[in-house]
Amino acid sequence: MMVVTIDGPAGAGKSTIAKQLAIRLGFAFLDTGAMYRTVALAGLRANCDWNSESQLARIAKESEIRVTENHVYLNDEDVSQVIRTPEVTEVTKHSANNRQVRLQLVELQRSFAAENNANDKGVVTEGRDQGSLVFPTARCKIYLTATPEERARRRVADFATQGKSLSYEEVLRQQNLRDHQDESRSLGALIKADDAVEVLTDGMSPDEVIEELALIVSKKSN
Ligand code: DC
Repeated sequence: MMVVTIDGPAGAGKSTIAKQLAIRLGFAFLDTGAMYRTVALAGLRANCDWNSESQLARIAKESEIRVTENHVYLNDEDVSQVIRTPEVTEVTKHSANNRQVRLQLVELQRSFAAENNANDKGVVTEGRDQGSLVFPTARCKIYLTATPEERARRRVADFATQGKSLSYEEVLRQQNLRDHQDESRSLGALIKADDAVEVLTDGMSPDEVIEELALIVSKKSN
């Protein structure tokens, strides 16, 4: 059974696109960023000393993290919404930079794919290191990106639809910071796998992107 990996920088529209693609293909969907966010939430709640890598690793080990297609659970509590708050987003770098946490989550990600594949279900998995590190032998790897300016413009527009006004310059500055963090992490850094197909989505609508990805997947399935 097939694993489709979708990696790329923040704001490239990966989550929405990957989820829609999974629905279209009848595959299971895995949002790996949600897992790093959930560990960070567990750390926040346990008043973790962020300078102590071993403390966060222990908190992660003692937490039960369960992901389904549309929800994430921390010790049986549905945390799908709370992990998206700015407070959690801000501290997620600590879980993403923690080697022990990464090793634990990579194992969970591989089990998710193995279980679904065993039930004859393909998987679309989305993150930063899915094609490069977690599923090096995945049949179809996509690197979804857009220029920094386009990603920042989309983000400002998204917030505007929620009635929030954000400065484009500030969004771009924060985004550059996150790109740098994602690209420079010692394990699981954001990198395009050699055999990934790069899709630059500037000027494309979400439907056009999904269409293009579905085409890439169908070519790889044959
Ligand atoms: O995609 P996202 O914004 O929900 O991801 C949250 C954070 O987790 C982001 O800063 C990058 C990190 N992440 C990661 O290091 N590896 C992944 N496979 C997915 C996300």
